[in-house]
Amino acid sequence: MPDKTVPVLTIDGPSGSGKGTISRAVADALGWHLLDSGALYRAVGFAAGMEGLDLSDAEAVTRCAQTTKISFRDPKDGSETRVIVNGMDATGEIRTETCGAAASAIAAIPSVRAALFDKQRSFRKTPGLVADGRDMGTVIFPDAGTKVFLTASAEERAKRRYKQLKEKGLGVTLAALLREIQARDVRDAGRAVAPLKPADDATVIDSTGMSIEAVVAAVLQLAR
Ligand code: C5P
Repeated sequence: MPDKTVPVLTIDGPSGSGKGTISRAVADALGWHLLDSGALYRAVGFAAGMEGLDLSDAEAVTRCAQTTKISFRDPKDGSETRVIVNGMDATGEIRTETCGAAASAIAAIPSVRAALFDKQRSFRKTPGLVADGRDMGTVIFPDAGTKVFLTASAEERAKRRYKQLKEKGLGVTLAALLREIQARDVRDAGRAVAPLKPADDATVIDSTGMSIEAVVAAVLQLAR
């Protein structure tokens, strides 16, 4: 049973809002654990793809979510956290747009979300947890002491993502990314279960035009 006395800081928001970078920096500053819940959905999307499943087959995808073994490994040299899916290092694969779209599709299935419920809560360990996702403050950790909803304009988010993918040498166009981000926003906000929306008690931070440092400082200010 996760310990309810362990503090949790939730950072929810749409893709490309900078949640990943901000959550990592805030967790490091506080010396807390980090839950990248999007990576769990991406890992299930990846595993479903490996098994050749039809992503609209709710029963098969749910079984996949229940049985897929997902773990995170932090390399000693401080480089990017490795995501291990069924024993295979899928760190690079799960970050592709294909896996992002698969994650978004399977995340709309209620029984898939239920299958990941306990796994997400098990990350709550001393001295504290920073939880990054879409429904961290609304569904998974409704009792979190600090809740942030991080957003930015779709154009700004597409530009950031474009830069990231370019650096990785992946060929994409800005217009295609913007379309993809807008489509995913609509899907994530419109789904019946755990739609993307700020918790009533969340502080909304619009990071359009803000530096990473300024956003991190604003979040830490809320936590203290
Ligand atoms: O945050 P990230 O882009 O890695 O998440 C991938 C997809 O997983 C999102 O588009 C969303 O559909 C889904 N997701 C979710 N709930 C979460 C985290 C991610 O539905 N807590």
